[in-house]
Amino acid sequence: MLELINPTCDLHSEFIDMVAEYQERGESRLFDQTNLPLIQENFSAYIQYLENNSKGINLKPGFVPATTFWLVAQRKLILGESQLRHWLVPNLEHRGGHIGYMIRPLQRSKGYGTQILAMTLEKASNIGLSRVLLTCNQDNLASARIIQKNQGKLASEGFLENSDTVISRYWIDL
Ligand SMILES: CC(C)(COP(=O)(O)OP(=O)(O)OC[C@H]1O[C@@H](n2cnc3c(N)ncnc32)[C@H](O)[C@@H]1OP(=O)(O)O)[C@@H](O)C(=O)NCCC(=O)NCCS
Repeated sequence: MLELINPTCDLHSEFIDMVAEYQERGESRLFDQTNLPLIQENFSAYIQYLENNSKGINLKPGFVPATTFWLVAQRKLILGESQLRHWLVPNLEHRGGHIGYMIRPLQRSKGYGTQILAMTLEKASNIGLSRVLLTCNQDNLASARIIQKNQGKLASEGFLENSDTVISRYWIDL
């Protein structure tokens, strides 16, 4: 049974295992490293921080309210997480879009990436969005495929400023 849930203290040790999995596979960059002490030492404060982000409380300058979801199997295994940004600012229009997602390394290529986006699109509809922007690096073939399988329509592609990275931007109508 797959569910997209709000973060909960009940899955603390599972979350720690997932973070270790990212670290072991050299993917720590996927986490905001400044949150690691909170995750390890005061998990309930981390959960509160995520709730505050969702409600727009104590946001960092330039940030918009963003809700984090966990994709969970059998109510106990965290497979991945997504983030739904409630509206766009120029920075997110350029790179980031409304939704970000990641699947933990050992659970990839099982269709969960496609499912987490589909389930997060429902959440986007629930908060009143009628279309969402998705962005990914042009060479991130798995992510591009996930977006296309969720009816993403390519809108533009372009270089990131001062970089040779090409970003693809897609819109999905809800
Ligand atoms: C991108 C990511 C979410 C994919 O998750 P996943 O669970 O492996 O995705 P899925 O299993 O749903 O696969 C989606 C599609 O991509 C394809 N795919 C998977 N890995 C691939 C790869 N390395 N190269 C090309 N295609 C790939 C799959 O075959 C599938 O297509 P299909 O249904 O036509 O066969 C995962 O690799 C990840 O978390 N990466 C790091 C974070 C990230 O890049 N997030 C996206 C930012 S835009």
